[in-house]
Amino acid sequence: MLEEAKAGFRKAYGYEPTGVWSAPGRANLIGEHTDYNNGFVFPFGIDRRTYVAIAIRQDKVARVASTISEEVFQWEISDAKPTALDWALYPLGVAWAMREAATTGFDAFFVSDVPVGAGLSSSAAIECSVGFALNELWSAGLSRQQIALLGQKAENEVVGAPTGIMDQTASMLAEADAAVLIDCKTLETELVPLGLSNKGLVVAVMDTRVSHRHSDGGYRSRREACEKGASVMNVSSLRELSESDLVAAEKLLNDVTFRRCRHVITENTRVLAAVEALKSGNMERLGELLLASHASMRDDFEISIPELDTAVEVAMSVGAIGSRMTGGGFGGAAIAIIEQSKLEALATACKKEFAAKGYTEPNIFAVKPSQGARKDS
Ligand code: GLA
Repeated sequence: MLEEAKAGFRKAYGYEPTGVWSAPGRANLIGEHTDYNNGFVFPFGIDRRTYVAIAIRQDKVARVASTISEEVFQWEISDAKPTALDWALYPLGVAWAMREAATTGFDAFFVSDVPVGAGLSSSAAIECSVGFALNELWSAGLSRQQIALLGQKAENEVVGAPTGIMDQTASMLAEADAAVLIDCKTLETELVPLGLSNKGLVVAVMDTRVSHRHSDGGYRSRREACEKGASVMNVSSLRELSESDLVAAEKLLNDVTFRRCRHVITENTRVLAAVEALKSGNMERLGELLLASHASMRDDFEISIPELDTAVEVAMSVGAIGSRMTGGGFGGAAIAIIEQSKLEALATACKKEFAAKGYTEPNIFAVKPSQGARKDS
């Protein structure tokens, strides 16, 4: 893919790129819709990445192209946000967010094997690859966490998706064989070794291929319900509440808002418990927590879909340790922690059950916890 990025650059722009940078998509082990509530999340970088071949220009023009289409999108770096440029809003949005550091324009060509719309953060992979590259090319001196925040800013203010900080932080700070515990209130992070392969385990992704977008209504309305709950409970965010507050919350909130808040509050507890379970090697407990997380997303937060529930059920029926949908929901993928030797059986069973229910054929593959943003050449 490194060579593909360089070749694509040459073809699009007719000269050699300065270098190639890359950043991974992410899978979230546990902690969903907790990030924008200042809570805890526990994602890891996956071995599917976005590569960007890039060179600086003498003017302030930014051009971006990719293997998606022949089209080259162009925008001049300024205070005026780029608009209506399709996928190019992600990288150009990052350039906009970083505009104070922009000493030059640039040409960029993207190649990616992070599936789009699968809940594996193809968008964060684009944002972080180009943010990391520009930071170096412009000698901006930003930390990895600052680049993550600017990626989120691009997504919130240019793309218009009201997302949290999990995906970009994971893509910037991930390491091989580890997951990143992120405290989204303080932005403190802790790398926790996963050691799955030593135990003969893998994380399987079951991509339902039902596509989702977070600029649509579902994600936003969940976020609004959480904000409403926090305001009625008179706290700055749901992070400030614990399970002991649920009795009072149930009296003050309407049923839907209460269930939305209950998901977030209990999910925060589950994230910390999952980290403990991993540290003590208690995989059975980890599995229970993943399943409880899925049930909470399905019943309280109501962001699962029948395809995701089916994927989780099939995974458990073939002997997974635990399974849950991952990412924002309303489509995308579920993950399962499962013995490597059962991966094929999982794929077969999943495809069979999806066919029987008349769903689109799912895409099943293992992901390896991998390194965050890096310079490749
Ligand atoms: C999307 C968002 C994240 C997070 C998850 C849900 O991936 O980009 O910020 O809110 O959904 O956990």
